[in-house]
Amino acid sequence: MEYAHTPVMLDQVLEYLNPHAGDYFIDCTLGGGGYALAIAKIVGPKGKVLAIDLDEMAINNAVSRIKNNPPISNLNNIILVNDNFKNLAVICDKYFGDQKGIKLNGIIFDLGLSGAQLKDSSRGFSFQMDTPLNMAFGEPADNSASRIQAGKQTEHLLNNCSKHELERIIWKYGEEKFFHRIAGGIINQRKIKPITSTGQLVDIIKKAVPKKYQHSQIHFATRTFQAIRIAVNDELENLAKALPFAVNLLSGGGRIVVVAYHSLEDRIVKNFFRKESKDCICPPAAPLCQCHHQASIKILTKKIVRPSAREVIANPRSRSAKLRVAEKLTG
Ligand SMILES: C[S@@+](CC[C@H](N)C(=O)[O-])C[C@H]1O[C@@H](n2cnc3c(N)ncnc32)[C@H](O)[C@@H]1O
Repeated sequence: MEYAHTPVMLDQVLEYLNPHAGDYFIDCTLGGGGYALAIAKIVGPKGKVLAIDLDEMAINNAVSRIKNNPPISNLNNIILVNDNFKNLAVICDKYFGDQKGIKLNGIIFDLGLSGAQLKDSSRGFSFQMDTPLNMAFGEPADNSASRIQAGKQTEHLLNNCSKHELERIIWKYGEEKFFHRIAGGIINQRKIKPITSTGQLVDIIKKAVPKKYQHSQIHFATRTFQAIRIAVNDELENLAKALPFAVNLLSGGGRIVVVAYHSLEDRIVKNFFRKESKDCICPPAAPLCQCHHQASIKILTKKIVRPSAREVIANPRSRSAKLRVAEKLTG
């Protein structure tokens, strides 16, 4: 199957990362390789791009894209790693650890899922197709299960979680206002028959929400599908774990760029950047600083960066993208 993904805000990402020949970068979310391959061309044979993805399909696609792209295959400067970016520190140590004194110039996260994953019917990410429920990005980090087995977590969650837990997930990770009714619909349906397909889930949501909601601009199943995907893949926890490692690994002047697609992950990035750009994080009422926290980054995007109207028309999936950038302080 062809791996199709159009990179989002590629020009802005390259502008902020500002790669030069001989630089080192980490792309934490390889996907279709849109960013990684563009950076690899610029850094050339003396530079390196370490590109990570939890999804073996993304890694395999990149292997063949690189092989069939002589300028890049000749550079021999991309390292592909099938792992979770929450293990960033260990991965970096494994692949860059013996290159003493390297300067890490930039790290990029382009969060969520790729167009190829959304379109792949074996993945169960889309509410537009009736497929088995899966929604796993990849295998668990300890390789204890295949992606298909990992996907069983989605079925397990829907068929076994308490109503309260389902409500919590759909509200917290989907910000879905009809969380109560949808969780109730899931509980009622699974008493009759286990929920095993995306089609079943869409039907449950459709019956649970008011008629008017079914005709709103955003598809009525969007928020619930997002919530379940986030919960199954531990997306917010992975991001919260990886950001401090990323800043720690960067060299002075190196940049971290994050592209987020919903407010939950963007909030994590915004709060993390804010905290790490401050010298003191004591409560405002504290008479004297007791935290001794020191700023490690400077925020470069005081205002969030969004795709242009032209990009949104050409690639509607880019419409919710929010890009934030920070630079590691020297010394
Ligand atoms: C939006 S796509 C990236 C697209 C890429 N920037 C491009 O231009 O082609 C996000 C990718 O991140 C991967 N991903 C999501 N969570 C991950 C995690 N915790 N660790 C590693 N990869 C992850 C997904 O499998 C997906 O391939």
